[in-house]
Amino acid sequence: MEWITWLTVLLVLVVAVVLFVRMMSANHNTFKKMGIDTPPGANLFGHFALGVEHGMFKCQTEYYKMFKDHKVYGWYDIRTPVLIVKDLDMAKDIMVKHFKHFTDRRVPVEHDAPFKDNLLTLKGDKWKRIRSIITPTFSSGRLKKMAPHVERNAKLLLENLRRKQESGEEIELRDACSCFALDVIASIGFGLDINTLGDPSNTFAKEARNCTNPNILLLVSLLFFPELRKVLRAVGLAVFPKKSMEYLARAVDVAIEGRRRDGSAGKLNDFLDLVMNAEQEDGEGTREPLTRSELHSLSIMLIFGGLETISTVMSFTLFLLAVHPDCCLRAQKEIDDKIGKEAPSYDNVQQLDYLEMCLSEAMRMAPPGFILDRQCVEDVTIQGVHIPKGMPVLVPIYAIHNDPEIWPRPETFDPERFTPENKASRHPYAFLPFGQGPRNCIGMRLALVELKIALSTVLQKFTPVKCSKTVYPFNLSKTLLKANDGLWVKIEARK
Ligand code: HEM
Repeated sequence: MEWITWLTVLLVLVVAVVLFVRMMSANHNTFKKMGIDTPPGANLFGHFALGVEHGMFKCQTEYYKMFKDHKVYGWYDIRTPVLIVKDLDMAKDIMVKHFKHFTDRRVPVEHDAPFKDNLLTLKGDKWKRIRSIITPTFSSGRLKKMAPHVERNAKLLLENLRRKQESGEEIELRDACSCFALDVIASIGFGLDINTLGDPSNTFAKEARNCTNPNILLLVSLLFFPELRKVLRAVGLAVFPKKSMEYLARAVDVAIEGRRRDGSAGKLNDFLDLVMNAEQEDGEGTREPLTRSELHSLSIMLIFGGLETISTVMSFTLFLLAVHPDCCLRAQKEIDDKIGKEAPSYDNVQQLDYLEMCLSEAMRMAPPGFILDRQCVEDVTIQGVHIPKGMPVLVPIYAIHNDPEIWPRPETFDPERFTPENKASRHPYAFLPFGQGPRNCIGMRLALVELKIALSTVLQKFTPVKCSKTVYPFNLSKTLLKANDGLWVKIEARK
């Protein structure tokens, strides 16, 4: 090759590298300009390498400690400056007082139909419309009507556990609890009675689990280069499996058509039934029912919002009770005293205060929503910190829930932290398993009823105990709220 060609290639390479470096680091001065400290060790890819090396939970707690006396600190999520809010009053201002400046979440991956209209990622007025239409679906009256579907699936779980107890099998709780959570979702959101623990390979379970598994390569590419979003869409590449999503949308269609045909629509009182009939009164008195595409999104939302979360909390609670037999005994005694031999139901589980304390303590130690996020939609100054439009703001829930100044000996399971007196003595934002404000978890009440019915059904008949595979204290995985060694127990029948 001629020297002139070499020189041109070299020049192009140099220009490309300079442009790449400038693009990657264009925002890496943001926090310095704002006078906000950041953890040391950022490079061209921001703090990405630190996150990969230490994992999500260690990073949260380490930097929370490092910036002990700061209200906020900065973090470079590859190219994006992200404000981490540690101060509980400031977190409250963001989630409640100044909500109008933080109505949205940060959305690294936008979903396409049939999961386009989901509450988790919708923004602005679109979010507001759907949220207001479906809020009544989670009222106590409607949850009470929905509860028999949960009770039916809890009995199924009991039968499956009985088989495991009789054969003396050791059980990985997350797996078993995820099957129960999935059965409830299939039943209330898709009108399907499945038995995933008895038949783990059923198609609904396969597709439902698959639909939450992103294509990691595409996901990471989008995190590095959000500009690729339009290109991927144009060439038909989706981060979340399209075929599984479409299978689930068809399942919703089949259920809706079936109900309309046989006249059962409006009589089944499950989630799908309630949202099918959810309509909204607008200011002018006209009614605007949900579209079919919105119904698809809402049923699929149950999988994204209520599968991992319920199975995580249920499995950690049962596991923590297995390794703390005194607490387990007390929870069982409460069930015996207050419910006796009656089947747990929406009404009778409301009295199980100690069980709720155990659930809260499990959610403190292992909160499925370990980070809350909002995106600033309009410049605002809060507690002396100026937050520019577009900046993502995160609240490090896992670190707050494990702060020894709020929770002495945070690694210890102690349900007593949640007595009414102890709760009243803490900052109300020190415990946020379901988030806060108008954008908090819409499924919170459903989740609590579901968990209490499931746990009391199990504890009424069985005692979870340690087994040869039990590892406690558990080690959390680097990226997911999951115990690395699993949550293994044995189930003993109660005498
Ligand atoms: C123990 C179980 C659950 C936990 C710990 C949990 C936790 C959370 C958290 C932390 C958030 C974010 C709140 C915020 O940003 O302030 C959230 C949002 C949400 N959750 Fe849950 N969740 C649970 C169960 C459920 C269930 C069963 C559903 C099904 C309906 C659900 C649906 C949602 C939805 C749709 C949102 C987004 C709400 C919005 O943006 O308007 N969650 N959840």
